[in-house]
Amino acid sequence: MRRETIAIHSGFDADPTTKAVAVPIYQTAAYAFDSAEHGAALFDLQVEGYRYSRISNPTSTVLEKRVAELEGGVAALTVASGQAALHFTLANVADHGGNIVSVPQLYGATHALLTHILPRQGIQGRFAESDHPDAIARQIDENTKAVFCECIGNPAGNICDIEAIAKVAHAAGVPLIVDNTVATPILLRPFEYGADIVAHSLTKFMGGHGTTLGGAIVDGGTFPWAKHAERFPMFNQPDASYHGLVYAEHFGREAFIARCRSVYQRNMGSVLAPMSAFLLLQGIETVALRIERHVENGRKVAEFLRDDPRVDWVSYAAFPGSPYYDLSRKYLNGQASSLLTFGIKGGLEAGRQFYNRLGLIKRLVNIGDAKSLACHPASTTHRQMAPEDQLKAGVRPEMIRLSIGIEHIEDILEDLDQALDAAVIETADRPRLAANG
Ligand SMILES: Cc1ncc(COP(=O)(O)O)c(C=O)c1O
Repeated sequence: MRRETIAIHSGFDADPTTKAVAVPIYQTAAYAFDSAEHGAALFDLQVEGYRYSRISNPTSTVLEKRVAELEGGVAALTVASGQAALHFTLANVADHGGNIVSVPQLYGATHALLTHILPRQGIQGRFAESDHPDAIARQIDENTKAVFCECIGNPAGNICDIEAIAKVAHAAGVPLIVDNTVATPILLRPFEYGADIVAHSLTKFMGGHGTTLGGAIVDGGTFPWAKHAERFPMFNQPDASYHGLVYAEHFGREAFIARCRSVYQRNMGSVLAPMSAFLLLQGIETVALRIERHVENGRKVAEFLRDDPRVDWVSYAAFPGSPYYDLSRKYLNGQASSLLTFGIKGGLEAGRQFYNRLGLIKRLVNIGDAKSLACHPASTTHRQMAPEDQLKAGVRPEMIRLSIGIEHIEDILEDLDQALDAAVIETADRPRLAANG
């Protein structure tokens, strides 16, 4: 099946008992055992089935199959949010100690996870100077457990050269883990370029309606954990928390997801509610169509801002002047996501006036909604970062981030136009008012 069809059909045909064609919401905590022996066999992983919804749930299973197939992976685990997916993923690969080498252009909470939270758990975050594969290679050492990047950075909008970065990671014997939230598998399938694990915030473009938090981890099934047994004892030595199971032996290509589920989901929670899984499935049904409109509207907004004398700069990867233009052609068919950033003339103060005057476009910290959204990253999503780290992450003080929705383009442009006008008038007025006392 093609991606448009997978998004609608994968993982579910019709309910075997009722013949319902919508995915049922299995709002249950637990599942009955046929007998004591059946319960024991389920816990021994000798038979397939459900035990308790902290481990797995039939509604979430459909979502897991659908996201895995959209990405072209072998298995997936859904969790309560994108951040939970990233925490589980990075801990799963490095919880015996070591470091994760990352590009600097990351979503703020992920930057905090690597800088402040994981180090307290014995996992160091190491940031390369840039997203260039050579800069990443320089940070890798014998304690590195994975290389990490966002395929398209939020908010920087940089496009990572997945193929080249995967080569660097594999040459060092470590997997490439990517966050594919902004691109979605509709624009880019990282496994096709050598990534090993994909993490998602389903809250964004995948769910698409800004109603439901959720995350997913997808296993490409490609990384040879057994070949690197010394670096990755967690997949190759008996797990005392699961009566001596050896994940790489028992689960083969699905070892990463199986351990994520058995060690992290089972013991630490962060479970996706069945109702949320249902809502995310509803959203995903239209992801391919929505992305098409997001991309088209994003380009029109980028062109409008580029051509407007009130605007100082626009960062949009699919413009020939962008440093990411060639990568947009290689990975995104010459397109860019509808996430873009810009600064208006008059700097921070003019930007503040512009932001306050937006009408249709909502002021908030989310991306990937059907609605157009705007945010000032330096004072919100990336506020906790040091100014120099903000710059490396692609966050300039005056920068406004737009996530362009799927409304009629003229309504979006009219709102931007009137807010730009207001910013020009108010900032022009300011010195005069001051001079008048
Ligand atoms: C690229 C990226 N990854 C992960 C997350 C975290 O997702 P969630 O809000 O679902 O925890 C976000 C949130 O903005 C994001 O932009």
